[in-house]
Amino acid sequence: MADNSSRAGTTYAATEVIEYLHRTHTAHDAALQRAFDSPGHNDMPAIQVGTAEGKTLLLLLQMIGAKKVVEVGTLAGYSTIQMARGLPEDGHVWSVEFDAKHARVARENFAAAGLSSRITVLEGPGADVLPTLDAQGPFDAVFIDADKANYDIYGRWAAKNVRKGGLLLGDNAFFFGKLLEDSAPAAAMRRFHEEARAAFDTVCVPTPDGLLLGIKK
Ligand code: SAH
Ligand code: DHB
Ligand code: MG
Repeated sequence: MADNSSRAGTTYAATEVIEYLHRTHTAHDAALQRAFDSPGHNDMPAIQVGTAEGKTLLLLLQMIGAKKVVEVGTLAGYSTIQMARGLPEDGHVWSVEFDAKHARVARENFAAAGLSSRITVLEGPGADVLPTLDAQGPFDAVFIDADKANYDIYGRWAAKNVRKGGLLLGDNAFFFGKLLEDSAPAAAMRRFHEEARAAFDTVCVPTPDGLLLGIKK
């Protein structure tokens, strides 16, 4: 019998099926659509999470009753809005972004979504900004989606600052298919996987580019 048990990245869903599922489960209101389209309208890379991943983030946060969440990599704030909507009124997302223009566009999208009071964008490199957040913790979840070469640093911070039962989420955990390559960023991404496994109970969900999901031990 063929053993496909560890095969990742295959999908049976054709484009029309994906569109049907989006209409059925993850349809955007005006604020989400604005944030999703925002990179394309502002000369920014359109590298936001997919619509199904975005809604998955929202549901996961709702499932654990999350109130305090940290994101690394804001872009135009699409994933941030999804996550903020998974929190109660008094919940908060701190999102770290080192590109000033991305931060500005994201803040405009948060205002348009009526979420300015529930989201703080912190400008600067993740490795410098995260330590300034320690005192606000422990956090219910950390979502990592910034520079892949530093995922190991971000994952280590999450292991120290996420509460027991809280979540680690990491986009691009397949590293665009280059996870096993002999390069420094690939090695950093492998350390992220292996160190995450030590501090969290983990799985790599086979989204198009992999979503590392862990619950803190
Ligand atoms: N999470 C967003 C997409 C993030 S794209 C969404 O799904 O909607 C990655 C973002 O990380 C980009 O905006 C990029 O400017 C930012 N980034 C890259 N390196 C960074 C670093 N060292 N620190 C903080 N942000 C960084
Ligand atoms: C890139 C970054 C991402 O976070 C992503 O989900 C897709 C692409 C990139 O840097 O190209
Ligand atoms: Mg990503």
